[in-house]
Amino acid sequence: MKLYSRITGTGSFLPPRRLSNADLVAELAANGVETSDDWIVERTGIRARHFAAADVCCSDLALQACTHALQAAGVVAADIDLIIVATSTPDMVFPSTACILQHKLGASGGAAFDVQAVCSGFVYAVSIADALIQNGSAGKALVVGAEIFSRILDFSDRTTCVLFGDGAGAVVLEASESPGVLATDLHADGKHVGILCVPGSVSGGKVVGEPLLKMDGQAVFKLAVGVLEQSARAVLEKAGKATTDIDWLIPHQANIRIMQSTAKRLRLPFDRVIVTVDQHGNTSAASIPMALDSAVRSGKVKPGQLVLLEGVGGGFTWGSVLVTM
Ligand code: UT7
Repeated sequence: MKLYSRITGTGSFLPPRRLSNADLVAELAANGVETSDDWIVERTGIRARHFAAADVCCSDLALQACTHALQAAGVVAADIDLIIVATSTPDMVFPSTACILQHKLGASGGAAFDVQAVCSGFVYAVSIADALIQNGSAGKALVVGAEIFSRILDFSDRTTCVLFGDGAGAVVLEASESPGVLATDLHADGKHVGILCVPGSVSGGKVVGEPLLKMDGQAVFKLAVGVLEQSARAVLEKAGKATTDIDWLIPHQANIRIMQSTAKRLRLPFDRVIVTVDQHGNTSAASIPMALDSAVRSGKVKPGQLVLLEGVGGGFTWGSVLVTM
């Protein structure tokens, strides 16, 4: 009997401190950095983002998101035998945030590891969990995207610091005789490392390089629009589906203009695209599971519907997961 993986619960968590564009504009102005609500809304669609408090770490956000996902799935943490956390802002250099999360959840014994694929991290993590469930290695997985990007932002660089936010989203993925995940599609092209990176590391007891986010926004934008269309078509073909079969597109929430272009290229009406970038900003690996959870809880995404999840970001990485809810 063929095994599939199926999303049985979703959850998310936003740290309570919300900054509207006006709040952020005022904070930046106090430090001599000039931007405006008009510029941010017009160029990105972002109206607000949440920032975590100084004593909160990535695994704390992940824990809250997982608790909600477990409740939604009716699964207890002790039954989880696989935890994958997609993050670029881990608690520590090592061990993995997934291991720290596993301990906080009280779910010892199963496999736990992090995936580093920046904003594509969640689709990478779901694809890996799907493969491990299909081959019988895991039965109940928590797949998480969790980020505290506010820790790696350069608040003197207005071209990047207005774009990102913090948060976490999670799904419970369970073995099932019916799909579930229909197809996955993952890619990377390392020649674009420099267009979106945090070029720093820890060495000899010191931080070396520059541990703050750098981005060539226009280069990322152009690449993103092309690869999101290609990956959508590839994953649909693998599953024998057409763009007209898609009930909801949930792309990485970086910029509403990228989402509009992707929908247009796929000839998908924009009212079938889930948008949370306006309220969350770009939360990197957390953006897709947070958008999915918000769409499930608001009643937009319903059981049985076909949902296309698409990630794109640093690496350069990109990919898609096509899933029946
Ligand atoms: O999560 C990973 C994926 N990341 C992304 O997908 C991000 C992709 N890129 C983007 O979303 C867009 O390229 C940005 C939102 C980053 C920038 O939008 P843009 O339309 O490409 O603007 P731009 O970089 O061409 O800048 C236009 C102007 C420049 O001024 P000049 O040279 O025309 O005088 C910038 O200096 O806007 C200026 N500018 C700003 N002005 C006010 C840049 N940032 C700001 C700002 N406030 N925050």
